[in-house]
Amino acid sequence: MKDFTYYAPTEVAFGRDALGQVAVLVKKYGGHKVLVHFGGGSVRRSGLLDQVCDLLSARGIDYILMGGVVPNPRLELVREGIALCRKEGVDMILAVGGGSVMDSSKAIAYGVPYDGDVWDFFCGKAKPEKALPVGCVVTNPASGSEMSDSCVITNIEDKRGYSSPLGRCRFTVSNPEFTFTLPPYQTAAGVADIMMHTMERYFSHDMDMDLTDSLAEALLRTMKDNAYKVLADPCDYRARAQIMWGGSLAHNGLTECGLQRDWACHKMEHELSGMFDVTHGAGLTAIWPSWARYVYKENIQRFVQFAVNVMGVRNDFSDPEGTAIRGIEAMERFYRDIRMPVTIGELLGREITDAEISELARRCSHGGAITVGNLKVLYQKDMEAVYRLAR
Ligand code: NZQ
Ligand code: ZN
Repeated sequence: MKDFTYYAPTEVAFGRDALGQVAVLVKKYGGHKVLVHFGGGSVRRSGLLDQVCDLLSARGIDYILMGGVVPNPRLELVREGIALCRKEGVDMILAVGGGSVMDSSKAIAYGVPYDGDVWDFFCGKAKPEKALPVGCVVTNPASGSEMSDSCVITNIEDKRGYSSPLGRCRFTVSNPEFTFTLPPYQTAAGVADIMMHTMERYFSHDMDMDLTDSLAEALLRTMKDNAYKVLADPCDYRARAQIMWGGSLAHNGLTECGLQRDWACHKMEHELSGMFDVTHGAGLTAIWPSWARYVYKENIQRFVQFAVNVMGVRNDFSDPEGTAIRGIEAMERFYRDIRMPVTIGELLGREITDAEISELARRCSHGGAITVGNLKVLYQKDMEAVYRLAR
């Protein structure tokens, strides 16, 4: 069992009446002048943005608005947000939206007190010493950004993540009703992303942390079962609530305590969504089955445990490898059931070329300089092989 530090400082206000606490939380965490940051308009259409503004005004909290965050959020807008916050004397960012809005907010928060260019943090040229406080009102629970330490930003086609304890939100307001309007594709991609945040931790060589395994398996089963329910009835509060809370727990560190995490699929997916601007969760489902087939022999017992405890596959004790493979096939069937792609061709709607595959592997390995993954350490040639299997 690995030693670990579990740090999850985000205050969570969860449920139908959670939004009522937003202004109290802003004040509690030091917000006097707030940048309310949002995306392409879903929060305007739903009326949520107006509700947030009214609640801030009612408590005498000054705010300015900045929308326009796109999926796979862009560095240019982050730089604009930083300039705006400095000019207006903003002391807190309130993200109202999904993972892209939350990540754009976190990047602005890092950039405001920093003298250089915020991209320095994403390239490893500098480390932030401070950041403005960030709070969020979540409308898409997929990314888990509301409780994670990560932030993922795209600079033209170069999509990079940065993780730091300073990147944890001070608070999250999570009302499952805000997710009723999510389109089915985003809903399914979100569930896939949530599950993958825990699977990236679960597929480990560490097999002696029973409690973490049980939490992870329960989370994965719950997400899978409720995915069918929300796709059948988008306004099923109970099912939306399981997914929303699962999204926060899947990526706040709880399901990695005592384990060495992997993250190969995420690193390989970030190249896909960087290059082709596709939805992150869908990029993950396009890669995972091929990654799993490429690496399962490194720890067949772990894949057997996944097959039996998560996917409900019967354990054939005389054929562990067969059980492991049936688990991967069952996951693939689940992805198909929720209409997610299981190949890159399905993801892009066209065949990927050899040149594109080589370029993805080149970028993911930083030109051969780095490896990804831990269950099986993947070199550039392995990344290329996984992309090729997934084509
Ligand atoms: O922009 P608007 O109009 O709000 O529309 C969004 C967007 O088009 C829409 N949407 C969000 N909530 C909605 C809604 N539409 C109707 N009703 C609602 N309630 O959904 C679309 C996608 O939103 P986006 O925020 O991009 O999705 P998601 O939450 O999946 O975030 C994806 C981003 O998070 C990053 C991904 O790489 C990607 O850039 N990730 C961030 C992580 C982190 N910070 O910890 C971890 C993840 O692994 C992930 O990498
Ligand atoms: Zn993810």
